[in-house]
Amino acid sequence: MNFSLTEEHQMIRDAARDFAQTELLPGVIERDEKQLFPSEQIKKLGQLGFLGMMVDPKYGGAGMDTISYVLAMEELSKVDASTSVVVSVNNSLVCWGLEKYGTEEQKQKYLVPLAQGQIIGAFCLSEPEAGSDATSQKTTAVDMGDHYLLNGTKNWITNGNSASVYLVIAQTDPEKGHRGINALIVEKGMPGFEVGLKENKLGIRGSDTHSLLFTDVKVPKENRIGEEGFGFKFAMKTLSGGRIGIAAQALGIASQALGIASGAYELSLEYSKQRKAFGKAIHEHQAVAFKLADMATKIEAARLLVMKAAWLKDQGQNYDKASAMAKLYASEVAMEATVEAVQIHGGYGFVKEYHVERLMRDAKITQIYEGTSEIQRIVIARAVLDEASAIA
Ligand code: CAA
Repeated sequence: MNFSLTEEHQMIRDAARDFAQTELLPGVIERDEKQLFPSEQIKKLGQLGFLGMMVDPKYGGAGMDTISYVLAMEELSKVDASTSVVVSVNNSLVCWGLEKYGTEEQKQKYLVPLAQGQIIGAFCLSEPEAGSDATSQKTTAVDMGDHYLLNGTKNWITNGNSASVYLVIAQTDPEKGHRGINALIVEKGMPGFEVGLKENKLGIRGSDTHSLLFTDVKVPKENRIGEEGFGFKFAMKTLSGGRIGIAAQALGIASQALGIASGAYELSLEYSKQRKAFGKAIHEHQAVAFKLADMATKIEAARLLVMKAAWLKDQGQNYDKASAMAKLYASEVAMEATVEAVQIHGGYGFVKEYHVERLMRDAKITQIYEGTSEIQRIVIARAVLDEASAIA
């Protein structure tokens, strides 16, 4: 067992940290307030290889491992979770699925520009009535011979307007239940495809979250990913890896809020050293010191879970339970840490300039998207019970 990072991992972490400080920090408050998508920043991240980090270089990617991806996600998320969610969705929900299950033609046509960051992608599973209960897809993809006719609505889609390529999950044969679901590659501009309303969100306000409307969109058969009826399993497998990215995002938000990590502005820790009350720095008061101690311990535990999930994925081992545990725990720690961070900052924590109120608002979504905390508990409980019955 080795807990140290390789030199390469440290370089990637440092590069992401520098990028966050120089490119993301300026303007992060304004982007949040005005709901501005970080277009320039995403373009630069693409040029640096952060949008196709784990993709094989032969398909335009950076050929890195999941540990590298997690380190980059953590660093970017310390400063701007609205940007890091774009990075996460493109890497783990779009590029990963296409590389793993796409045909050679699909990879050449879609994966290469996505991995190079020339375009970005979106993953479209959620619907007005199918969020956690993802098998209840109402969007239909009727088999018309050489194409599918796509009809329906998707909700809360990250990169909804900024994406060029959309992986859309839809029901083809309702009688077959989840085995009748397909995953289709839809391009922006296909007749009948419209981007709907932009959501006005509590957190990650810089990312663009939209509903999508499909009316008789003709999607060629060659745009189906995997075999007929593979769409639901495709979504589940893709989300399993996606959850590692979101867990890393939560870890970044938590560690920045409590100033545990060596970010340039170590928020609560730094603040607690500077701010004086009753004649001494506030971290010398046990009430504040114990908050810092508890959160430091929880953040460390979350980090170990996130790293283990990433490591299992890199080893080619099953990571479904590990990624669910990492996301469940890291997102709950992020929420707790950011609430405490606002408390430690007192009145300053309640205003925008000190960043912690934004981190608190951003933390909330990590308990919701890519499977709520309740869904992670379902995945974990089922895995644990399966393991128990395999032993019995
Ligand atoms: N890998 C492969 N197959 C899997 C799997 C996995 N990780 N998980 C489930 N499956 C398979 C099952 O084996 C089963 O197949 P068989 O019947 O052939 O054995 C099939 O999928 C159905 O599984 P379940 O019976 O377990 O299905 P369920 O209805 O009980 O639901 C669930 C399972 C885990 C609750 C699932 O519905 C789920 O994960 N829901 C949450 C969805 C989600 O995460 N949504 C997030 C939206 S995307 C997003 O947020 C992106 C963004 O923009 C940031």
